[in-house]
Amino acid sequence: MGSEAIDNILSRRSIRRYSERPIEAAALETMLKAAMSAPSAHNQQPWAFVVIDDRKILDSIPDFHPYSKMLYQAPAAIVVCGDLRELPAPYFWQQDCAAATQNILLAANALGIGSVWIGVFPHEELVTKVQELLGIPGDIKPFSIISLGYPSEGKGPSNRFAPERIHHNGW
Ligand SMILES: Cc1cc2nc3c(=O)[nH]c(=O)nc-3n(C[C@H](O)[C@H](O)[C@H](O)COP(=O)(O)O)c2cc1C
Repeated sequence: MGSEAIDNILSRRSIRRYSERPIEAAALETMLKAAMSAPSAHNQQPWAFVVIDDRKILDSIPDFHPYSKMLYQAPAAIVVCGDLRELPAPYFWQQDCAAATQNILLAANALGIGSVWIGVFPHEELVTKVQELLGIPGDIKPFSIISLGYPSEGKGPSNRFAPERIHHNGW
């Protein structure tokens, strides 16, 4: 069974090489709308986002994050943060932010934009460095950085379907 939405999920890959074409404001808004449409525990929506399109800021992230060198080429990035102030279900905020992150990746793919999920939380040192770089208060935790750019590389679907991982009515 197929549909555009399913094809979008199956074709998403991490894209780490980009053209110089900037990401349009409307596209960023669409991705942020997708992020905020994610499910969250108690519908607490504990997320906040920092959009970065300043070349100097993007270039400074690989100084402390060893797996983020694609940001040298990326025209933009979105930092997904957990806002830990007054949460009804504080122990679920990471899952909520992961769902928001994945929605951004899928929206980017649907718009023809390449992206990578760059992990930040739970590495305390990375969390602190991102907070310092962007002036983020202590109770707002950077969870992930998503690099964004129109692709200058192509990747086919990954096809990781593994029937042996599926169990029915018990292990
Ligand atoms: C929690 C998490 C953290 C990740 N961190 C990084 C990262 O720091 N740098 C990077 O280049 N890719 C990172 N990735 C992307 C994975 O390497 C990538 O999703 C995986 O290799 C599968 O490839 P695909 O996204 O093309 O399907 C991360 C993915 C997840 C889910």
